[in-house]
Amino acid sequence: MKIDNYIKNNKDHFLKDLFKFLKIKSISAQSEFKKEIRNAALFLKQEFKSIGMDKVEILSTKKHPIVYAEKIISKKLPTILVYGHYDVQPPEPLNLWFKPPFEPYIKNNKIYARGAADDKGQVFMHIKAIETLIKTNNIKFNVKFIIEGEEEMGSDSLSNFLSKKNNLKLLNADVVLVSDTEMISLKNPSIPISLRGIAAMDIEIIGPNRDLHSGVYGGAVANPIEILCKMFSSLKDENNHIKIPHFYDDVIILKDKEKDNIKKIPFNIVNYKKEIEVKELYGEKGYNTIERTGIRPSIEINGIWGGYTEKEGFKTVLPTKAFGKLSLRLVANQNAKKIAEDCKKYLLNIAPKSVDVKIKIHDGISNGMLIDTNSKAFVAAQKAIQKVFKKEPILTRGGGSIPILSKFQEKFKIPIVMLGFGLPSDNIHSPNENFGIDNFFIGLNTIIEFYKNFSNSN
Ligand code: BES
Ligand code: MN
Ligand code: MN
Repeated sequence: MKIDNYIKNNKDHFLKDLFKFLKIKSISAQSEFKKEIRNAALFLKQEFKSIGMDKVEILSTKKHPIVYAEKIISKKLPTILVYGHYDVQPPEPLNLWFKPPFEPYIKNNKIYARGAADDKGQVFMHIKAIETLIKTNNIKFNVKFIIEGEEEMGSDSLSNFLSKKNNLKLLNADVVLVSDTEMISLKNPSIPISLRGIAAMDIEIIGPNRDLHSGVYGGAVANPIEILCKMFSSLKDENNHIKIPHFYDDVIILKDKEKDNIKKIPFNIVNYKKEIEVKELYGEKGYNTIERTGIRPSIEINGIWGGYTEKEGFKTVLPTKAFGKLSLRLVANQNAKKIAEDCKKYLLNIAPKSVDVKIKIHDGISNGMLIDTNSKAFVAAQKAIQKVFKKEPILTRGGGSIPILSKFQEKFKIPIVMLGFGLPSDNIHSPNENFGIDNFFIGLNTIIEFYKNFSNSN
């Protein structure tokens, strides 16, 4: 049977299988879903077996299992390693979902469910692309899948897995292909050429041994919330430039030609302001939005709490403690570990003696990454997009992170290509996450085109 016909005839079956996957509550961050995480891995194992992969394994780790599958046609043929993740972000707040997050449904030609775009739907394009090629006798390359369950919490277990030589051998390939990013739009197909790295930390400010009467003590004792606010607001100056010493030392300054390329990205098409309903965008002086999220590092405060907040009315306390969480997004060439330590030191330094400060840097720190646009693999991806979309892809810079990719880059020395088909309107990490059915099938066809181009060029 021809490839096109197989896809046409199996449209419903592909979506039915994807719905089964989306129903599994594989929330990696919340330990009560441990069993569902395991079910997602088991589901993938079954799926890989049923499409005709030769070797399928669930690899246990300290936390969530990794699913590995391979089909080796011939040692002489090139090998494509597909990476993705089956874990999803917590769905809260639940009351903002139109329907429950793990009961997938279709509306306006989009699939709604947690994980629809990030990343179950996108992993599934690869599974069904390989199914199509196997069942129609068109697979002319070797393929390996590594699908993990901890991406949304920093990929620690997969990092450890990569530190063993034997495992590197197992994953040996000619390219890493990842569908876990987004495009500007289906009319403006794009490929990210960089992603930012990430480091996150928790801060605790400890003041008096108990909540105090804010009249009796007010004005004479350091208020932990006030101190935390001061510390947080010392992170950036009036131009939103980060004040941590040496923070920008290793940031790559773009060449004029690269700067021009960034200016050419049709940002208006995304219409950020309208999408997120803010009156104005905001950020580091001297840079536009694309630069701020693409080539500049940033710090965001992710949460802050303490004192009397939960109930109505007022309570005159000077609280005993304050808490905050922050994360840094780092660009290629910055050392994420070192910068996280620098940030911690800076915060500890500016805190007054009147409080104690505890800072815990989380595991799962990762560097930013930059892709080689001259590799055969990258050219194969550009050609695949050109063929399916009838348009040359725009090269973008992603602001998000896929923590394991910089580690792949360090360990493997093979090209990485990010061929993602999400859209900015997919609501990833938010209520009502969705993935277009067109995105799924256009993605599937582009992936098949990539496989073809890549295996022919090697
Ligand atoms: N798929 C995303 C990353 C992404 C999204 C890249 C859109 C480019 C465009 C990934 O699943 C993700 O959310 N990563 C987290 C990692 C973190 C939790 C360690 C992120 O970036 O916050
Ligand atoms: Mn993802
Ligand atoms: Mn995600």
